[in-house]
Amino acid sequence: MSRLVCVSNRISLPRKSAAPGGLAVGILSALKRTGGLWFGWGGETIEQEPGEPDVHIREGVTYATIDLKKDEFELYYNGYANEVLWPLFHYFQRSMRYAPEQRDAYESVNRTFAQKLAPLITPDDVIWVHDYHLIPLGRRLRELGVRRPLGFFLHIPFPNIEMLRVLPAYAELLRDLTSYDVVGFQTENDLHSFHSGIEQLCGPEALRADGRIRVGDRTIRAEVFPIGIDVASVQSEALEASQAEVVKRMTDSLMGRALMIGVDRLDYSKGLVERFQAYQQFLEAYPDNLGRITYLQIAPLSRSDVRAYVEIRQALEQAAGRTNGRFADTDWTPIRYLNRNFPHATLMGLLRAANVGIVTPLRDGMNLVAKEYVAAQSAEDPGVLILSNLAGAARELSAALQVNPYDTRSVSHAIQAALSMSLQERRERHTAMLQVLKRNDIAAWTRRFVEALEQAHPPENARVRLVNQ
Ligand code: G6P
Repeated sequence: MSRLVCVSNRISLPRKSAAPGGLAVGILSALKRTGGLWFGWGGETIEQEPGEPDVHIREGVTYATIDLKKDEFELYYNGYANEVLWPLFHYFQRSMRYAPEQRDAYESVNRTFAQKLAPLITPDDVIWVHDYHLIPLGRRLRELGVRRPLGFFLHIPFPNIEMLRVLPAYAELLRDLTSYDVVGFQTENDLHSFHSGIEQLCGPEALRADGRIRVGDRTIRAEVFPIGIDVASVQSEALEASQAEVVKRMTDSLMGRALMIGVDRLDYSKGLVERFQAYQQFLEAYPDNLGRITYLQIAPLSRSDVRAYVEIRQALEQAAGRTNGRFADTDWTPIRYLNRNFPHATLMGLLRAANVGIVTPLRDGMNLVAKEYVAAQSAEDPGVLILSNLAGAARELSAALQVNPYDTRSVSHAIQAALSMSLQERRERHTAMLQVLKRNDIAAWTRRFVEALEQAHPPENARVRLVNQ
């Protein structure tokens, strides 16, 4: 049995408050099952060059973290990762702000990750790199002579070649992806987009009939591995947390009103402005609901040094203020808008308490909150999920009320449909979705990816020759 080494920019350190975002939740539940090493940035920036990794062992998982140099981190994380790759991969081309120094820093941080990680790798390891911050890491590890199987999983969407071509270094990015033995995507759409890039870079003959990709003298696997959740653990967390003080105080404060909940990092890709508009249109179109529904939106701040995130925050404050100013009464606030985060278990308890879960991103790799909302419901009296058809999760959760998040009028009708849905229909939809969640849970995701990695044949010569070199 190999040891699993996961590598990601953000890691969920023991004893620190929950890291927001599906990636940290997913990797943590995967590693808790298999044990192994989680290597990543420890969350601190420093003035000098990074030193040796800080290592802690907790519950069978070894955490090795490094600090990053402040000025380089700024260009790598705020810059290339979140002002270039994130908007482009989510099809927000106009939010992209490119500068060549950002890419230099991105390369340099990936080199640092490889240099600090390589000495920790043992002959039994399989290495699983996560997300867009670390695409060049596989190539860098090979350059340092690492010969173990290398896999990469992209948690966010992968853009079609016509969008990817906007990136000046798109060919290098595709080349770097082909230096892994296994490349995983959330959905078929993302895989097709990757194929469109490979076809352009290497020619159609690179795409083999068995789904593998032939690049130079190597064959790589590129497949779909939709990330799941730990259903049983969400169910028990949600049940237990429904008795917790904070959840009880919230439900008491509703005074019998219906609850609609949204839980999202404050990110422009999450469609929150459109969602607030849809809610306002719902209150206008169905005035019987005035005073009878509370919409709780939890939106912890995220990437607050990036301009597009400052702008979306302002836009949301205005939108929430407008709706509340217009509709609130002396004893009722239509939107409760919170920029804070809660422990994962508390969030599960809040999700369980809600009659409607609203998840309407404009584009999303998967969206684990949608899956958590379904798992957190009571089977006897489940709530209804309203889900964007532009989220990766829409593929599996076909029994949700699916909406186009830009079509705010349809979203407003969906809120009304959710609130008035019969118990029988709610149960049928919930049962259907829960089945899918159980089949494709986090254990299945981990097992499938690790099996693919264990079957991989890394190049004999670790200093692999890459396409177009
Ligand atoms: C998304 C990304 C993750 C990221 C998370 C939180 O889920 O796919 O890679 O860690 O957002 O964002 P942050 O920038 O705070 O790490």
